[in-house]
Amino acid sequence: MSTITERINLSAPWIDEHDEERVLEVLRSGWLSLGPTGPRFEALLADAVGAPHGAAVSSGTAGLHLCMRLAGVGPGDEVITSPYSFVASANCAIYEGATPVFADIDPNTFNLDPLAVEAAITPRTKAIVAVDIFGYPAEYDELLALCERHGIALVEDACEALGAVYKGKPLGSHGHPAVWAFYPNKQMTTGEGGAVTTHDAAQHELLVSLRNQGRLETSSWLQHGRLGYNYRLDDLSAALGVAQLEKLGRILEARAAVAASYGELLAGVDVETPLADDADHVRSWFVYVVKLPAGVDRDAVMARLSAGGIATAPYLPSIHLQSYMRERYGFTEGMLPVSEDCSARTMALPFHARLERGDQERVVDALRAALEPQA
Ligand SMILES: Cc1ncc(COP(=O)(O)O)c(C=O)c1O
Repeated sequence: MSTITERINLSAPWIDEHDEERVLEVLRSGWLSLGPTGPRFEALLADAVGAPHGAAVSSGTAGLHLCMRLAGVGPGDEVITSPYSFVASANCAIYEGATPVFADIDPNTFNLDPLAVEAAITPRTKAIVAVDIFGYPAEYDELLALCERHGIALVEDACEALGAVYKGKPLGSHGHPAVWAFYPNKQMTTGEGGAVTTHDAAQHELLVSLRNQGRLETSSWLQHGRLGYNYRLDDLSAALGVAQLEKLGRILEARAAVAASYGELLAGVDVETPLADDADHVRSWFVYVVKLPAGVDRDAVMARLSAGGIATAPYLPSIHLQSYMRERYGFTEGMLPVSEDCSARTMALPFHARLERGDQERVVDALRAALEPQA
């Protein structure tokens, strides 16, 4: 347990000697990119999520962008997504000249409300980017039915949800492309990095080409068959990914145990704790987000926790109210009331696989005190 003066960080990766060894092996081999470790990482990841193909990329954002290319999204198209997410899930549409259209969320799951999505569909809708926010699976059966009925592509932003299960099967195994991210605050990390898993060989082939400057399988190094990007993941990062995947089960178990411990400690504290799993949705724990009662000054609560050495974050601001979104599209307050209410009241507590019970007690004691009327 940390001493009272020690800061408790919001997140921390779980790196051990095995991770170091795997990275050193690649470093010593001298084969730092386009070597054998990338495909090994991809095979392990695809296997973990129940998909036939995995393409590693340089970030989750890059993966989302490439999925817009897979879906043929372009100028004049609309892409429906969640306002209560990280900006990348909407930015990917803008990169291809399309317009992001936000549908409101369900107040319990914080994920896209399929009825709101249906109401947002127009003849210009080309794709839906569904997000498994905070690792909780979105409503894929309903969303897929909408996509099939309207001829729209479904892309899953599973960047926060590696290891989550929807209707008894892992996210990634349900047929549509899924995007993963491995920044150090995620369940597992490659430093920077991401991946796209697919169930279609042609889509996989296109991803592999797009991430590698548009080279074709048969191209030589300086021949490019299409407009592409450098979205490759290097082999050092892939090696860390291999090591992390080798202990993914332990990581996910440890995170679930830390979350359960918060659940116990927060009983009786005046906050809403994260939605519990049910038969159709099993969360993979990414962050631990609580919702404060309406009317509580969240900034003041966060400042009190910070003064006690405890990091928190206002997870998540609504994307449509970011300054560049307002300027570009004229979005304003009141457009998406459920998302905006969540954005005003939700707060992430320190959370990672090896957060100690004593530190969690310190966090919860400080939160309880911060919520009391101040003298
Ligand atoms: C929901 C969501 N989408 C996309 C991303 C983007 O991933 P990256 O930071 O690897 O580009 C993140 C990462 O924070 C995320 O949480």
